[in-house]
Amino acid sequence: MSKDKPWGGRFCQPTNKFVEEFTASIDFDKRLYSQDIRGSIAHARMLGKQGIIQKEDVEKIVEGLQGILSEIEAGRFDFSIALEDIHMNIESKLSGKIGEAGKRLHTGRSRNDQVALDIRLYLKDEIIEVSSYIDMLINSLLTQAESNIDLIMPGYTHLQTAQPILFSHHMLAYIEMFKRDKSRMKDCLERMDQLPLGAGALAGTTFPIDREFVAEELGFASVTRNSLDSVSDRDFAIEFISAASIIMMHLSRLSEELILWSTSEFKFIELSDGFCTGSSIMPQKKNPDVPELVRGKTGRVYGNLIGLLTVMKGLPLAYNKDMQEDKEPIFDSVDTVKGSLKIFADMIREMKVNPDRMRQGAAKGFSTATDVADYLVRKGLPFRDAHEIVGKAVAYSLSNNKDLPELTIEEWHSFSDKIEQDIYDSITLEASVNARKAIGGTAKECVKREIERIKAGR
Ligand code: ARG
Repeated sequence: MSKDKPWGGRFCQPTNKFVEEFTASIDFDKRLYSQDIRGSIAHARMLGKQGIIQKEDVEKIVEGLQGILSEIEAGRFDFSIALEDIHMNIESKLSGKIGEAGKRLHTGRSRNDQVALDIRLYLKDEIIEVSSYIDMLINSLLTQAESNIDLIMPGYTHLQTAQPILFSHHMLAYIEMFKRDKSRMKDCLERMDQLPLGAGALAGTTFPIDREFVAEELGFASVTRNSLDSVSDRDFAIEFISAASIIMMHLSRLSEELILWSTSEFKFIELSDGFCTGSSIMPQKKNPDVPELVRGKTGRVYGNLIGLLTVMKGLPLAYNKDMQEDKEPIFDSVDTVKGSLKIFADMIREMKVNPDRMRQGAAKGFSTATDVADYLVRKGLPFRDAHEIVGKAVAYSLSNNKDLPELTIEEWHSFSDKIEQDIYDSITLEASVNARKAIGGTAKECVKREIERIKAGR
């Protein structure tokens, strides 16, 4: 008999042992214990207020649940696989402790709306955490930008030298990405901020419940408007993992640059020893494990996103047991994105830059070719003609083993008589960078202005 199960009434034979293990989620959903208890306390208070259960029962329930919370937190709670999930583990423990009153808690509620509530409560808290981790990383990037405000490095397209840029501008590019990530998290939080409890199993409940009261108790902005959707919706989790995937994508791009910049070929930066490891065979090695691992972990979070999308695909309304598979990808994404953001915040703050190497890199590769073309445009030439002329000068320099600043004025004249002595001042690294001063450009004055905007929270 399945009399030990809260749903055992209609069963004559016990659950197959392996089925019990196979269908249980307690091993992972025990992580929702505090949300489950919070939700149950609010539900019980509402049942009492509405006269659906006795006030004395509410008191016993609340006290019992608080006791269970302390037991779990002290590691004194025995989770049982036979009781399937966190919801039944807690409920059955409560009935064991306080008897009759405990058995009244589930009035007007189902595990379907209960689990939907628990995940929303959990993710709402985690989103706030994730956002604060994003802030930590933004601060580290900002510190790097401010303490290296004048540092010039090569900017790339196709990973080929393109134009000189400020290192601080490069740091601020990542800040823009992480600011968007924060706003995506905020967005996702706003849409998730609806109480699903009260949907019952799928159709609502026959009891005169007050959903708005529960929403208020639990800090939800509003209540969901359709009971079927309330128990079958996991969009909010998919949105969260999708926003987390974009964070990881950004971190993986930064990872790739840090890995590249740490090579002996680049030597633009050095990560502090605390964030690297050595090799068991090659004594000289200092490997950028942290960015490599974060780049790798990006794959996990993408996997979680595709996994959950696939779990939800084609599911008929309303709740289906398939949806129990939502939790592990959610938890794993939370852990991965928080861990990655945190370790990056610390690592970036401690990162050392190598101004000489960056400057040398910026000076190579005809990085100021566009500046010569722009110079000719200012002297009256159409841009396309200027581009052609500078292209020829580059080809000439390449075959003569020179870079543009090394061409003599006579050599320049052979390409255009519009070029005068002042060309040399136009193609220094500083001139190149500081000439780009429209909003969003790499000029120092722009970067400084953007730093102020970021600090002012704009
Ligand atoms: N452990 C279940 C889950 O995570 C809770 C909901 C179960 N509902 C049900 N009707 N079996 O999805």
